[in-house]
Amino acid sequence: MSTAASLPVLSACGVHVTFPGRRGRESARALDGVNLDVYPSEILALVGESGCGKTTLARTLLGLERPSAGDVRFAGVPLAYSPRSLRTYRRRVQLVLQDPMGALNPRHTVYEAVAEGLRIHGAEALGSFGDEATKVADALSRAGLRPPERFFPRYPHELSGGQRQRVVIAGALVLDPQVIVADEPVASLDASVRGEILKLLLGLRDDSGLSALVATHDLGLAWNVADRVAVMYLGRIVEAGPVETILRSPEHPYTRALLSVASTAGGNPPVILSGEAPDPSHVPAGCRFHPRCPALASGVAAAAGIAEACRSVDPGVLPGGRGAGVACHLYPPSS
Ligand SMILES: Nc1ncnc2c1ncn2[C@@H]1O[C@H](COP(=O)(O)OP(=O)(O)O)[C@@H](O)[C@H]1O
Ligand SMILES: [Mg+2]
Repeated sequence: MSTAASLPVLSACGVHVTFPGRRGRESARALDGVNLDVYPSEILALVGESGCGKTTLARTLLGLERPSAGDVRFAGVPLAYSPRSLRTYRRRVQLVLQDPMGALNPRHTVYEAVAEGLRIHGAEALGSFGDEATKVADALSRAGLRPPERFFPRYPHELSGGQRQRVVIAGALVLDPQVIVADEPVASLDASVRGEILKLLLGLRDDSGLSALVATHDLGLAWNVADRVAVMYLGRIVEAGPVETILRSPEHPYTRALLSVASTAGGNPPVILSGEAPDPSHVPAGCRFHPRCPALASGVAAAAGIAEACRSVDPGVLPGGRGAGVACHLYPPSS
């Protein structure tokens, strides 16, 4: 493997994002020390319940949210937040949103929707051989809308949900990004078209070496598309690793609970998490998951002699990188 291929293309390094509290409330630690690396030509799924910070991390990686501590790096270089560097950056890292109807202007044709990014980025995005219509046609056909010219004059309402999502993806591809950040990319689609869109992401990875960070609350989706999975709980990555490791032998009690709910196979009853829904304005002391942790509630943690640590010692922040890791006192880092 070349060294270039083993270096992350996009990284969050010790990222904290804190939102000020409204009406006298505590501020919210939406991201509370996140290390995450996206490597060239891989699909990384970011999974976790609603409210755990997936969208905030996606927005921060796009430069839309500025970390209160830590930084975002592209090819190892910390992101600068001047309008000019952000402009260049946004060609390399493109956002794909979940709701194609909301992302597309109903009065714009497919051609205009896809050409918009090129127009915003001007001549630099067109390149030396650049002819706008050629670029638009190429992006549409990479997104699976063929023959592309047939789609040029169509309006969003004339398309199916899956085709609209492809137009949104073409709008990202037209700028030749290295990374796509997709926030719940298939959440609004029918089950039948979900598979097609996920196949498209896999094809882009294989044919163009594109990387994707896919934020989703759906572990089944991660299973179908991801090379690696990072599990997020209350603003932290609590477990990360290759998809087979995470889904076949999860370690963190939170990952286990998520999986037990997601899969009806295996015959194990789902682990229903008790306790209050997590609130980033009141992050629990010790392990942030301890008030809801089945291992603590069942006495497994006490039997392992770690119950006190669960309540009072923060298991710490996972280092990022490609390796598997789990932030839980049941699995001390040295073992
Ligand atoms: N602009 C904001 N101002 C205040 N709180 C926010 C803001 N955006 C997100 N949050 C809070 O940060 C936490 C994480 O939200 P989010 O990143 O949207 O999670 P997810 O995408 O996993 O559902 C939530 O508690 C949410 O209420
Ligand atoms: Mg979200």
